[in-house]
Amino acid sequence: MNIEICMGSSCFSRGNKRNLVVVQNFVREHGLEATVALRGCLCLDACSKGPHLTIDGTRYEQVDPNACLDILRKHLAKEA
Ligand code: FES
Repeated sequence: MNIEICMGSSCFSRGNKRNLVVVQNFVREHGLEATVALRGCLCLDACSKGPHLTIDGTRYEQVDPNACLDILRKHLAKEA
């Protein structure tokens, strides 16, 4: 699973700071360290629709920590 978190200042301050922790905890709790590639990206020039989270090429908008967890679960279920 490829996870990309927008680390631009808008997304970061509006939720991705917390989403990053959610993702890191999720990966650790599910033992996914070997199968998840997590990286940050620069501003996607779509700040008004942020915070952005992209998983396996699908970009999600306005992601809060609850939505972040739902999205991660959905993708993990797809891979199972
Ligand atoms: S900071 Fe994420 S789109 Fe601009």
